Amino acid sequence: MEPPAQRACPDLEAALFRLYREFFDRAEKKRRWSLADDIPWGQCNPRLNPAVADVVESFLAVELYLPDYVARAMSLWRPSRAFTWFYANWGYEESKHSLALADWLLRSRLRSDEQMADLEGQVLRRRWEVPHDSPVGMLAYAMVQELATGLTYRNLRRQVEGEGDPALCCLLGLLGVDEQAHHNFFLKAVRLFLRHDRTATLRQLRRVLHHFAMPAIYELADGRGRVEAIKALGVFDDRLYFREVYQPILAALGVSRPELRRAA
Ligand SMILES: [Fe+2]
Ligand SMILES: [Fe+2]
Repeated sequence: MEPPAQRACPDLEAALFRLYREFFDRAEKKRRWSLADDIPWGQCNPRLNPAVADVVESFLAVELYLPDYVARAMSLWRPSRAFTWFYANWGYEESKHSLALADWLLRSRLRSDEQMADLEGQVLRRRWEVPHDSPVGMLAYAMVQELATGLTYRNLRRQVEGEGDPALCCLLGLLGVDEQAHHNFFLKAVRLFLRHDRTATLRQLRRVLHHFAMPAIYELADGRGRVEAIKALGVFDDRLYFREVYQPILAALGVSRPELRRAA
């Protein structure tokens, strides 16, 4: 396994720690929200399209793999205070996301306590293998997944707006802002790694961008059906991935497709 690159490079670690402090200070000032007080829980809609509840449940499953993401990231990045402190903060925010989605499914009465216990059991029973064992690969993967998840919440919110569920609209809005902030942090981190070692970082980036899927969903018992439901609702598919994730990330990193191809 590739050793954490920043261990050998104090300048890079210092730049990463500055990035983390920027992220943290901004989160404290602008982005903290309360699960109890900031969502109009009295305005859940039990008659909402059941397909929306299915998609919410699938993304709850993605958020429930938190222990696997955190354990893997913490062990890969153990020598870096920038990343271990970041992942502690990130874990807090992501844990709130799964609470919010689960609370909505229960309060809208679209899922029962038994159904929720069943889903949690299914997810927490087995470990999800984060698909990249290189530290930089994991950062690139998180950069892509955060943008894809944020995009999904934004598109799902658009669907819900017409159907009348202010509670779900509000919580999807809050989650979307958090995911965008997470994406921005990972994007800036990957940019620093590109500057530090462009060839090695491009190789990881290419692997991640060309093999991205929402694997945590595929691995659920009815994963294939869940992915089809997400596509049918138009919240995420291959076309959206290419246009709103793949291309914008390359543009934001200043990497052309021929350069990425050469990295292979
Ligand atoms: Fe999240
Ligand atoms: Fe996130």
